[in-house]
Amino acid sequence: MVERRDHWENIYASRGEDEVSWFQKNPSCSLDIIAQIGIDKAAPIIDIGGGTSRLIDALIDRGYTDTSVLDISKRAISVTRERLGRFQDSVDWIVDDVTEWVPRRRYALWHDRAVLHFLTDEADRTSYRNALANGLSKNGNVVIATFGPDGPQQCSGLPVVRYDKDAIEDVFDGLLRLECSSSEDHTTPSGAHQAFIFYRFTRDVGG
Ligand SMILES: C[S@@+](CC[C@H](N)C(=O)[O-])C[C@H]1O[C@@H](n2cnc3c(N)ncnc32)[C@H](O)[C@@H]1O
Repeated sequence: MVERRDHWENIYASRGEDEVSWFQKNPSCSLDIIAQIGIDKAAPIIDIGGGTSRLIDALIDRGYTDTSVLDISKRAISVTRERLGRFQDSVDWIVDDVTEWVPRRRYALWHDRAVLHFLTDEADRTSYRNALANGLSKNGNVVIATFGPDGPQQCSGLPVVRYDKDAIEDVFDGLLRLECSSSEDHTTPSGAHQAFIFYRFTRDVGG
């Protein structure tokens, strides 16, 4: 969707990596969950809407060798590539809208921090779910972080859907099984607090 793409290109054109509200120096919640899952270091991992997140740096640093980052913003991907320097060549970079993307392979881990929650239309959520179904391996793991019921109603000037356990289970009913969730009180660079919830799923038998 062009409007959506323009929105994100404008954001990354006008703000530095550490000037966006979702900036984290250390994506510790994501890294702790990935460590708990015990993903094989050679297993394919994708960060959906990775933007300029430092998760990819940390994954490479920890020895994960098959990593991909997808984002709708070409500029965000360029910034992240540049930051990684020579390590950028080990990553598969995908510029696409997740709701239009057709995965060419299957991933053992699908990670999304603060992307699904922008999909306020049912049709977009269905497209996201279809991409996930096509891109996740049979025994795949999924980590999705969204604003929780006490989180903000907007992010980056856009309305978001805040998810509790029942609402997120509804989106992936029949495809994913919710294993656990954890809360994160994210402090933005301007000092505001945002209630995130990280949901961890496995692929449902038959899903
Ligand atoms: C709030 S930011 C989070 C970035 C990153 N996950 C993090 O935690 O730092 C949302 C990101 O999702 C990307 N994005 C938004 N909608 C998208 C879509 N439909 N498909 C792919 N990427 C999208 C944006 O460009 C942006 O980088």
